[in-house]
Formats: sequence, structure tokens, C-alpha cells
Amino acid sequence: MSAYTQIAIAAGLAAGLALGHCSSKAYGQNSQEQSWSIVIHGGAGVIERGQMDEATEAAYRDALNHALDLGGEVLSQGGSSLDAIETVIRYLEDDPKFNAGRGAVFTSEGHNELDASIMRGDNRQAGAVAGVTRVRHPIALARAVMEQSPHVMLMGEGAEHFAASQDLEIVAPSYFFTERRWASMLRRVDQLGLERPMRPEGAPDPMPVQEGALDIMEREHAFGTVGVVARDQAGLTAAGTSTGGTTAKQWGRVGDSPIIGAGTYAEGACGVSSTGTGEYFIRLNVAARICQRIALAGEDMQAAADGVIQDELGVMGGDGGIIILYDGAPGWSYNTAGMYRAAWSAQTGRVVSIYSDEP
Ligand code: GLY
Repeated sequence: MSAYTQIAIAAGLAAGLALGHCSSKAYGQNSQEQSWSIVIHGGAGVIERGQMDEATEAAYRDALNHALDLGGEVLSQGGSSLDAIETVIRYLEDDPKFNAGRGAVFTSEGHNELDASIMRGDNRQAGAVAGVTRVRHPIALARAVMEQSPHVMLMGEGAEHFAASQDLEIVAPSYFFTERRWASMLRRVDQLGLERPMRPEGAPDPMPVQEGALDIMEREHAFGTVGVVARDQAGLTAAGTSTGGTTAKQWGRVGDSPIIGAGTYAEGACGVSSTGTGEYFIRLNVAARICQRIALAGEDMQAAADGVIQDELGVMGGDGGIIILYDGAPGWSYNTAGMYRAAWSAQTGRVVSIYSDEP
């Protein structure tokens, strides 16, 4: 059960969000004094009431609450938005409930190929990695690419050599193995009429997977990704995203998450992280498009986000959503039944939501 208690700090609901499950942690600040803010997602998809049992739902809410705690701790102590993003995404990459790091979906060949990116809004520096299979925290590698290399994007083995040179943690590919994702991939491979891959070397002995839970995981992780946008006390807005991509992806497929402008973007006071069918997010350049509708067309944050996600993306046939911070105010927009999401700001207090009938 969640240790979090519901408290009502109704201080300003400028972003249209209401307070959800709240932690007892306050970091010595009241909401009026808080100059930092953070918004988090854990993926979007067909996440509807009644599909998850109580324990599973509570586990997701606890994870999102803990992610807020981690980010709030960094930001309230004067840490940078980049540190908050890396800290929170590392945690989500270690949590097998989310499609990033450990618990990532499998390719049709039976591998976990991981993508991540990060960008800062003040100077547009960015870093990204695609198709890494041995780096425990792809978000840390994306940040190292941004800060310690002359490049923006590295892929595959070269990215892993760079990770080793930066003393980042390298793990055996089997570290990322989870039974649920393996079973989901086999089911999808069967649907596609492909040959089943061999169980990976080092994977644990097969275990039965609860059928209902597997169904949920398959649906929600059609679009699974994790992402964070944060603004620190110095006013730096930054965004980061990490994913295992799509179940049974083939041929070295790369989605939007490591693509700056599509899966992650930050410019000035605007930051966006995406989750959804990457092929559509890439073609629409979703994350940058939203920030630029605000900056160039003068649109309101929510109108810009909804215009891209509900209208443009929807018309193209793409599914998914985004989280956004603009001038420190958090928001989100998604065209799926639900999205794992959380925010903490002066305007909203703490919010943790899953379903579409929640704030
Ligand atoms: N949005 C994650 C992907 O398409 O890979």
C-alpha cells in the first residue's frame, strides 16, 4: 500500500491541474515560495480503470510519487534540472514496471535495445544515444554525450565504448531481462509470423506470467517511455526521455525518444518529453513543434500541446502524449486512454495521475 497521504494544498491551479496523492515530504517550502518545478511521465497507452488490479495500480502510483520525491529533493536543495532529470530517470530505468532500462521491451530478435536523450533550454545543448544494450542507465550516457563529447548522438557499440570511457555502469544484456516483456515479445512475434528467438544467455529460468497482468503490460507498453521535464531554482528548463522502444521492433528500428525535437526538446522556458508511436512523433517533430507554437505563434501552453497531440498527431493516426513545462507551469496532453504522469510545482502542488478522468 502507498505510504502517501492525500492532503489538500489548493494553492493555485493555474495549469488546470488538481492535487492528487501527496507525500508528507515538503522540503521546508510552501508552494508559494517554490521556484522549481518538475513533471514526469511513465508512458501512455490503453490504461483504463478496471484493467489493473489494485496492487498494480498502487505500485505505479507509489513509483510516480517516489519519482517526485527524488526530483523534489534535488531541486529543493538547489540542484540543477539536469541532475533532477538524471536522478528520476535512473530510478525509472531501474524499475521493471516501466519500459526503459531494466524492464525494457524486447526486439523480435530477443534483445533489449535502449534509447535516451536529454536537452537543456538555455543553450540548446543536447545528447542522445540509440540502440545500446549494455549500459545500465542510458539517460546518464545521453548526458555524458552532451557534456563530455563534441557530438549530439551516438549509437550501438560506439556509444557503449564511450560509456565505458566515462566510467558509466556496464551490465550484461541479461540484466534488462524481465519475464513479462519476454512473454509479450513472443506473443507479438507469433502474431507477426516470425521465428521465436532463443531465450537470452544469462536470463533466469522461465517463470509463469499472470495472464491478466501480461495483457495490461502489453497494451500499456505499446507506447511505453519515461520522461522528465524540470526547472531548477536558477531558472534552467531541461527535458529528458528514455525507452526500450516498441515490442518486437525489427531491423534496428529507432523511435522518437533519442531524436532531439521529436522525443525531447527544450528551448528557453519550454521543455517537452514525448511518449507514443515514435514513427508519428518523428514525422511531426512533436516536442519542438509544441515549444515553437508557443514561441512563434504566441499560443497558450495547453492550446499548443493539445493542438499538436489531439489534432495534428491524431489526424495522422499517431497515439501517445507529452509532458510540458513552460515558465515553470506543468501540463500534459495525450490522446490515449491514460498516461502515467506526475507534477510538482507552485501552481499545482503535487499531482499523481493515471486515468483520463483524473486531473
Ligand atoms: N516513443 C518510443 C518509441 O517509439 O520508441
